[in-house]
Amino acid sequence: MSIADDPDRAPARSHLYAMGLSEEEMRRPVVGIASTWTGTMPCNLTHRELAAHVADGVRAAGGTPMEFNTIAVSDNLTMHTPGMRASLVSREVIADSIELMGRAHGFDALVAIVGCDKTVPAAIMALARLDVPSVVLYSGTMMPGRWRGRDVTIQDMWEALGEREVGRLDQADLDDLARHACPGAGTCAAQYTANTMGSVADFLGLAPFGIGDIPAEAEEKNAAARRVGELAMDALARDARPSRVLTADALHNAIVSVAAMGGSTNAVLHLLAIAREAGLPLVIDEIGEVCRRVPIITGLKPSGGPYTALDLWRAGGTSLVARRLLEAGLLRENVTLVDGRGLADVAAQAEERPGQEVVADVARPFKPRGALAILRGSLAPDGCVLKLGGKDDFRHEGPARVFDSENDCYAAIQEGRIVAGDVVVVRYEGPAGGPGMREMLSITGPLVGRGLGGSVALVTDGRFSGVSHGLVIGHVTPEAYHGGPIALVRDGDTVVIDSAAGTLDLLVPEEELAARRAAWRRPERAVERGVLAKYVRTVGSASDGAVTA
Ligand code: FES
Repeated sequence: MSIADDPDRAPARSHLYAMGLSEEEMRRPVVGIASTWTGTMPCNLTHRELAAHVADGVRAAGGTPMEFNTIAVSDNLTMHTPGMRASLVSREVIADSIELMGRAHGFDALVAIVGCDKTVPAAIMALARLDVPSVVLYSGTMMPGRWRGRDVTIQDMWEALGEREVGRLDQADLDDLARHACPGAGTCAAQYTANTMGSVADFLGLAPFGIGDIPAEAEEKNAAARRVGELAMDALARDARPSRVLTADALHNAIVSVAAMGGSTNAVLHLLAIAREAGLPLVIDEIGEVCRRVPIITGLKPSGGPYTALDLWRAGGTSLVARRLLEAGLLRENVTLVDGRGLADVAAQAEERPGQEVVADVARPFKPRGALAILRGSLAPDGCVLKLGGKDDFRHEGPARVFDSENDCYAAIQEGRIVAGDVVVVRYEGPAGGPGMREMLSITGPLVGRGLGGSVALVTDGRFSGVSHGLVIGHVTPEAYHGGPIALVRDGDTVVIDSAAGTLDLLVPEEELAARRAAWRRPERAVERGVLAKYVRTVGSASDGAVTA
């Protein structure tokens, strides 16, 4: 019985009257619209406007919209600050807050408007828990900036820091680039984490192909948002709930998309977390297996080539990527997309711009294998993630240079103490140890900028921005905070990375490691209260998605 007709819900009706709802509107299906708007960053700046258009679409299709908001944390603004510890934690808070709103208000259907990195997996996690008909609206990429005759993104900004250190740019250049790199609202402008996860939402079937690709400030976006509102009502009529959409085959397709589009290493964490919420078995090595056999077919920064997300949209978008992957037999077709189409429909309807060079055939890829690999070995018995970025297999053996925090390592790079051949080990930056598993862009950016990106390896129990590239290995598990082997490494120890063998090893005799293990004590951490302390107590291994229990 609706609130309008239940005699005992008169007190609840009084509040709905207060909001201007009529009894007729109270009788209609209620569609919750979860927006991850915050006014602290450009990434999600359009969400309030989009929410209004989604609401119009819901109304036009006979429903009653109810908007609500969550928090969101900008990775770029918090990078290299203590605030970065809040980033991955925010995924759990966003998921929990959407879930709680859904449980509290009993929405008949949901639309989640997402943008910046963590908001995408967080919303999908919540929708999987609630399991009511749901649509994801990815708010879209930022346009690239133009600087000195070339397209630039936030990646250029971070790498410019290193170029300033070696004298290729001065501070005035850096400041000028900062004024041009990010020209408006939207998510970081190439295949970094947010756009990777936006594509994942398409291939999971929860976001309609063709809508997430539209840049945040393109005039087509608002009309697309209205269509999403209408679609939510249609999804309700078809009972297109996440448990029917987000299946094992859809998850497989999403993993393929990450490989084929040179996606971010953060996708590993998020896919594992999404799988867990959806009740789907997924072990980290399966992601590595897909990345080994699926080539990168988009020429997107940072792994595939020079193009931006705007270029992908103009070329034909993720629908065109789906067409190429489908033609090559790399996708599983037995999936239900939220808009009722099949993958074959998406592929057939893809509009390829004549002469485009952004999406290649699988037979002639940009890079022969996906952007990441999963390694195991004596330094990472439970696994870790190598950002391969389309590089050929390689072997790197070098002396460890050990740092117990990102900040200590950053200082060493600035002082020129890191040299070619080194293996930089940054530890106590894991989910529990950081806490919050900070991204290491302030290390990888300057290393690349100093010309050391191909000769210095970075091994960490922290993680990487989608912008990061170089010889980088993150998500090392067990993390140092839990006494994993990475806690036992000392300066000068030999570390061997072998991507072909899929191994990361510490060449220290077992008896020596046993002595170090016996002497190891977990370092004191200043976090004793609040959300970070709660997170330390509840967060699990990065190899299981770093989810909270
Ligand atoms: Fe928000 Fe990059 S920092 S999308």
